[in-house]
Amino acid sequence: MKITLRNWALSDLDSLVGLANNPGIATNMTDGFPSPFTKEAGQQFIERTQKEQPSNIQAICADGQVVGSIGIYKLDDIFRLNAELGYWLAEPYWGKGIMAEAVKLVIEYGFKNWQLERIFARPLGKNIASQKVLVKAGLKFEYRIEKNLIKNGILEDELIYSMRIEEFNRINRSEK
Ligand SMILES: CC(C)(COP(=O)(O)OP(=O)(O)OC[C@H]1O[C@@H](n2cnc3c(N)ncnc32)[C@H](O)[C@@H]1OP(=O)(O)O)[C@@H](O)C(=O)NCCC(=O)NCCS
Repeated sequence: MKITLRNWALSDLDSLVGLANNPGIATNMTDGFPSPFTKEAGQQFIERTQKEQPSNIQAICADGQVVGSIGIYKLDDIFRLNAELGYWLAEPYWGKGIMAEAVKLVIEYGFKNWQLERIFARPLGKNIASQKVLVKAGLKFEYRIEKNLIKNGILEDELIYSMRIEEFNRINRSEK
C-alpha cells in the first residue's frame, strides 16, 4: 500500500465525516476532536486546515484513498524548537501499518522545513496501538506522567515519545 499525504479539500467533507465520526477514534484524541463528528464540525476542520499554506494538517491517503489525518504543530516562544504530532486513522484501516508510514513522512517534513530539535507525541497511557506506531516510526519513549489527563471522565496517564534531530539525521544517513 502506498501512503501519501495531501491537503484536505472541501470535496472530502462527506468522506471525512464517514471516516471520523467514531467514538472509538475520539476516545484516544483530545477533546478538540469532535464527537459526534458532524458535517458542520467536518467543514470547520477542513477550513481550519486550509488557513495556513502549506497546511500543517494533512489527509493521509492509502493507494490514493483518504483514510485519516495527521498534523504537526510547531510550538512557539521558548518551546519553538519543538513540534507535536497528532493523528487518527479510520477504523477499517487500523492494523495495516499505515500510521507509522504517515508519521515518518510528517517527521521528515518537520525536520526538513523547520528549525527543530525535537518532534514529540503524547498518547494516552491506554493507547498501546499509538505507542507501537511511534516506536515503529523511530520515536523513543521519554516519560510517563501518571493520571494527569482526563478523558471521558477517566484519569489517564500521559506518555511522551520523541525523536531528536540527531536521530533523524542518523536514520537518514544510514538509509542512503
Ligand atoms: C492508534 C492508531 C493511529 C494506530 O494506527 P495503525 O496504522 O492502525 O497502527 P498499526 O497497524 O501499526 O498497529 C499498531 C500496533 O498496535 C497493536 N494494537 C492495536 N490495538 C492494541 C491494543 N488494544 N493493545 C495492544 N496492542 C494493540 C496492533 O496489533 C499493532 O501491533 P504490531 O505493530 O505489533 O503489529 C489508529 O488505531 C487510530 O487512529 N486510532 C484512533 C485514534 C488515535 O488513537 N490516535 C492517536 C492519538 S495519540
